[in-house]
Amino acid sequence: MEISLEGKRALVTGGNSGIGAAIAQALSDAGAKVAINYLSNPEVAEQMAGQMHNSGHDALTIEADIANQSEVEAMFNKMDEAWGGIDILINNAGIDGVHANSWDIDTDDWTKVININLFGNFYCARQALSRMIPQRSGVVLATSSVHEMIAWSGHSAYTSSKAAIGMLTKTMAQEAAPYNVRVLALAPGAIKTSINQGVWDNAQGMTDLLEKIPLKRIGEPEEVAKMAVVLVSDAASYVTGRTIYVDGGMTDYPDFAHGG
Ligand code: BGC
Repeated sequence: MEISLEGKRALVTGGNSGIGAAIAQALSDAGAKVAINYLSNPEVAEQMAGQMHNSGHDALTIEADIANQSEVEAMFNKMDEAWGGIDILINNAGIDGVHANSWDIDTDDWTKVININLFGNFYCARQALSRMIPQRSGVVLATSSVHEMIAWSGHSAYTSSKAAIGMLTKTMAQEAAPYNVRVLALAPGAIKTSINQGVWDNAQGMTDLLEKIPLKRIGEPEEVAKMAVVLVSDAASYVTGRTIYVDGGMTDYPDFAHGG
């Protein structure tokens, strides 16, 4: 089966690093026009867009803080001006934030994660949906995490934001389904990006991590990106309202390979 996103207009938030960058590249390779949203490192976004152009694909870069509603609005207006709207939103930008137990963490640090990961996701999704509903087509795909399901000490804001993304996804999917618009989430496990470099960069962290992964290896951003392409394409035309896990089996509770 050949997957083509030829002519589709896509926006990837946090599209110039980690999983977002891999998804942006994969969408472009599949023929989509890709807008790369970024907050820092504009030169990386520009370089990515330049490469996409060189490969014959339309691309643009848009600076915006997704936690800021008016910047989000301006970003979607830029999509309208450039390409007359949007077909695919990859609602990806997020942070893991300060690591501290819930009774120790500073409220501002906690709120920052929720503002970016949850409110940012919501601001972008509603802008996208308000364009997709009238055109009776489109897909919103959020980047969630295995921590939508698995508790993680020291990361209560992050886990709460990802659990909320799961329910926000289901609810928006139910609202949008009568209009032929699909809403999904993708939940990566441990993927080799800068967000968890402190873990995979040292032998002890890696040993501990691999115990948590039945496939016994860390994932590559491209492995998440391939699934993203499938989910936003017609190959997944009957899939909506779900979080799809790309985690090497992490949510299969590997500790239960024995005992119990
Ligand atoms: C986090 C990573 C972590 C992975 C598995 C992701 O959501 O961003 O830092 O390695 O979950 O725990």
